[in-house]
Amino acid sequence: MTDATFSDLRENLGYSVEDAADILGVSPKTVYRWEKGEIEPKKAYLHILTSMVEQRRKGRKTRSDFTFIDLFAGIGGMRKGFESAGGECVFTSEWDKYARKTYRANFPDDHPIAGDITEIDAADIPRHDVLLAGFPCQPFSIAGVSKKNALGRAHGFMDKAQGTLFFDVLRILKHHQPAAFLLENVKNLVSHNKGDTFRTIMGALENELGYKITTRVVDGKGYTPQHRERIYIVGFREEVGFNLENVTFRNPKTGPKLESILHDLSEPPEIHYTLADEAPGSNRNSVVNDKYTLTDHLWAYLQAYAAKHKARGNGFGFGLNTPDQTSRTLSARYYKDGSEILIAQDGKNPRRLTPRECARLMGFDSNRKPDMIIPVSDTRAYQQFGNSVVVPVIETIAKAMRPSILGLLVADTLPRFEAAE
Ligand SMILES: C[S@@+](CC[C@H](N)C(=O)[O-])C[C@H]1O[C@@H](n2cnc3c(N)ncnc32)[C@H](O)[C@@H]1O
Repeated sequence: MTDATFSDLRENLGYSVEDAADILGVSPKTVYRWEKGEIEPKKAYLHILTSMVEQRRKGRKTRSDFTFIDLFAGIGGMRKGFESAGGECVFTSEWDKYARKTYRANFPDDHPIAGDITEIDAADIPRHDVLLAGFPCQPFSIAGVSKKNALGRAHGFMDKAQGTLFFDVLRILKHHQPAAFLLENVKNLVSHNKGDTFRTIMGALENELGYKITTRVVDGKGYTPQHRERIYIVGFREEVGFNLENVTFRNPKTGPKLESILHDLSEPPEIHYTLADEAPGSNRNSVVNDKYTLTDHLWAYLQAYAAKHKARGNGFGFGLNTPDQTSRTLSARYYKDGSEILIAQDGKNPRRLTPRECARLMGFDSNRKPDMIIPVSDTRAYQQFGNSVVVPVIETIAKAMRPSILGLLVADTLPRFEAAE
């Protein structure tokens, strides 16, 4: 497939010129010019389409055991985990143009991606068995509630969440009443707004919607070399005996080290992340591009900043790592200075991770194969991985939930007998 022309690849994927332009973030006019041979497409664009064709060739599942919807989908980390547990995604919502681009590149044979969830009527979302949402956490305003109180109207937890994105999760759950859901959020959701946010969430899910809930904070460090604690909230429509505390996660103390995700220099060069090593006498295939090495100016600034805060007895400063260590949490702000995860280099300033290394740190690529297609700039890629989930953690939860999900689906199809009095 490496010698295929741009139009061969596009046609193989079944995309119109407009579709291809949208995925690659160029104008349809540019695509027409490539196809007419007026200008050459960059290698990176051909690489993206080639990877998509290969991904599709690996074969898609023909039969699924249950269906799910992917809300606040980002780049599809939760989806990947649930697909590996036998689920089929039937609806996606994500409003960020660049996250949609990455999502679409990695899930090419798919339904259209819906945008702003607040604008979508629950009735327009297909039936599903499981709802997934890593919803952004916003403070729940009390103002609206007090107004309602003043009008003498009773208010519930659902009312309290009005105007927040969690409210959209609630109204979709209320309409469809799927067998189960998985919500994911930052660990301090529990203490957010003096505990009010979490109380509202739990109250609405348990008391108003009647779901049986279990929650647990899990550190992804058992799976990838990154300390990343997230709270997971699982709900089942009926009591099925599922408890997140009974799920076995890999031990964070014995997880892998950074060397497992850093570029191994015998890998073939990839886009601009790693380059062919031209040094005389070198027997390596590739080296990490110097663009990831901090400039003298930035490195001096980070060291001075850390020293100032250390002297005052606060702050961590930067996180400088060697391959035998694990890293701090990758944040969506990593593109700014990369200070939370820096890799020490011999005789040079430290460097940031490349987007490919970030994909591995979030568990997107299994066995170091560059499966994840990254069709966006480094800045966008860092934001997207920093917002995402550790895929194997989701996979572990999905596989643990699966028997209970299937149990409820079977129960739904059996006739119900009322006990005769
Ligand atoms: C914390 S990230 C979730 C990432 C996802 N779990 C993943 O694995 O990549 C939250 C996502 O919600 C999206 N989002 C925020 N508000 C939205 C809205 N009103 N409608 C649709 N998507 C929204 C953001 O663009 C962001 O990608």
